Amino acid sequence: MSFFYKNILKPLFFRLDPEHAHELVVGSLSLLSKTPLIRPAMAAFNQLPQASKPIEAFGLKFPNRVGLAAGFDKNAKCWPAFEALGFGHVEIGTVTALAQPGNPKPRMFRFPEHEALLNRMGFNNDGALEVAQRLETLPGPGQRGIPLGINIGKSKVAPLDQAVEDYRTSFRALADYADYLVVNVSSPNTPDLRKLQEGDRLRELLSELCRENEVRLEKAGGVRRPILLKIAPDLSEGELDDILQILIDLKLDGIIATNTTMSREGPFKDLNEAGGISGMPVCVKSTEIIARIAKQTEGRLPIIGAGGISSPDTAQAKIDAGATLVQLYSGMIFEGPLLGKRIARSLATSFGDLQ
Ligand SMILES: Cc1cc2nc3c(=O)[nH]c(=O)nc-3n(C[C@H](O)[C@H](O)[C@H](O)COP(=O)(O)O)c2cc1C
Repeated sequence: MSFFYKNILKPLFFRLDPEHAHELVVGSLSLLSKTPLIRPAMAAFNQLPQASKPIEAFGLKFPNRVGLAAGFDKNAKCWPAFEALGFGHVEIGTVTALAQPGNPKPRMFRFPEHEALLNRMGFNNDGALEVAQRLETLPGPGQRGIPLGINIGKSKVAPLDQAVEDYRTSFRALADYADYLVVNVSSPNTPDLRKLQEGDRLRELLSELCRENEVRLEKAGGVRRPILLKIAPDLSEGELDDILQILIDLKLDGIIATNTTMSREGPFKDLNEAGGISGMPVCVKSTEIIARIAKQTEGRLPIIGAGGISSPDTAQAKIDAGATLVQLYSGMIFEGPLLGKRIARSLATSFGDLQ
């Protein structure tokens, strides 16, 4: 498959505009998601053997360590296909309370020679209600082969001082369908969003969402959902430490490190395109951030590591730094759709998970 992807599919896709290619793939995978016999058969073939040891994190069991990062399946149209491709979890979104078109196109760019992408999508998505309706027709938490995370962000039109209400609307609409929720305050493409990573604003946002979670518990048969925060790689050590203190104080369930970078180094120094860079250029930085999180929290905060994972070694480095699970997106564009399966198998072998 890797040979077929690299020599046939990839050259074809790479002739297309990146977003157009993306839409074609989402369309095909959404067909696969709805195919009754083929999808489960592929899942049985591509997932680790049933008897393998699951990975436990924030109260959930994952069949393997590798997930699909947010941004690929923004609208929950094709996530079941990723179970069939061997991924151990999928994170959909970012979903916002209000449907929105995102930034003008073009807004996604490839840099194959650096195995990097740049995007300034701007949270283009169908909105929380429509995504919730789509999820309602499918098996829910606990009935799926792999956990489903839902990543929520701020609607572009919501001013910063109404961000809490905006996130709360998405939380209420989507929590029933999520195995875990991610609060995204780290996309570089929504004006002012990253300001929500700062002290009091972050504390208020997260404590309100934690309170919302407790409200769920009080309802008959209610369950709380693990809540994770997704951070940027462009934080200073001081900023990161402040965030970690808030997460520890609020007993948040975990952290995703990291989103795309705004930094322009090396070959990107003179690049005149706005947006966040992902893939290889963010790999080392995100691993350093994971290591600092693990050190500062003495391993108490579960970490999902993301940023430039393109091989078993790059994934292993994030786990060695302190991540329990990893996620990837850009690597799959360059290496093919079975990259998640390949890395999951390699990690499972090295950790002795295979029974
Ligand atoms: C085209 C594109 C769109 C993305 N959209 C989102 C998004 O909506 N929400 C989010 O939290 N992260 C988003 N991301 C960031 C990824 O989830 C991931 O954190 C980042 O790309 C680093 O991982 P990678 O190097 O494996 O791609 C996006 C990334 C790309 C390349």
